[in-house]
Amino acid sequence: MTAANRVSSPHILFLKQFLDRPGMVGSVIPTSQTTIRALLDPIDWREVRCVVEYGPGTGVFTREILRRIGPDARLIAIDTSERFIRYLRASIADPRLECVHGSAADIEAILAARGIAQADHVISGLPFSTLPRPVAHAIMDATHRAIRPGGAFLIYQYSRFVLPFLAARFARVERARAWRCVPPACLFWAWKQADAPLKAASCDADLAAE
Ligand SMILES: C[S@@+](CC[C@H](N)C(=O)[O-])C[C@H]1O[C@@H](n2cnc3c(N)ncnc32)[C@H](O)[C@@H]1O
Repeated sequence: MTAANRVSSPHILFLKQFLDRPGMVGSVIPTSQTTIRALLDPIDWREVRCVVEYGPGTGVFTREILRRIGPDARLIAIDTSERFIRYLRASIADPRLECVHGSAADIEAILAARGIAQADHVISGLPFSTLPRPVAHAIMDATHRAIRPGGAFLIYQYSRFVLPFLAARFARVERARAWRCVPPACLFWAWKQADAPLKAASCDADLAAE
């Protein structure tokens, strides 16, 4: 029996991890499909060579990113929870995916160890508002350095807490709210260059620009 089979449901694993470490997991349920689509749709995934995901949890974003990226692209998923990483390794068999047990703060070392200078985009499910403030700043700084010019830091949260962190570092921050999700999600696309284009107006209809 694989580790994935021993876990009866990803939802139960998620809840258990939340009860063990509420401040690091930050939510009792995985993100909804509506939020996932709303955050990912504006990016042209066919152009991506390397994308990094912070806090994949049970892999709801991971699976959708793998569905969108090309056959030669790489997805590096980093989580501080060893149980989530074990679950992902056991439940997703895809040579483009590498699951790393570690902290998002170490993104530069994680990329360098794989011979990658910078990522095209980074997507984050980290609960920034409940992380220790120095850790949140360290992750923001390292992420800005690790994204290539023209790339973006994609974030989904349940509040606007991250907005000043992003505005202090990135050239342009776009945001929207997915109202039809439970709970409604705040979405952010922080671009390293001011003129980086969003894929033409492809946001879901339920997204209200803020
Ligand atoms: C709100 S959950 C998001 C899970 C999943 N992406 C989703 O959308 O359902 C936050 C995740 O961030 C992880 N995490 C917290 N701090 C982290 C850090 N410093 N580096 C990497 N992962 C971290 C937690 O273990 C958890 O898996």
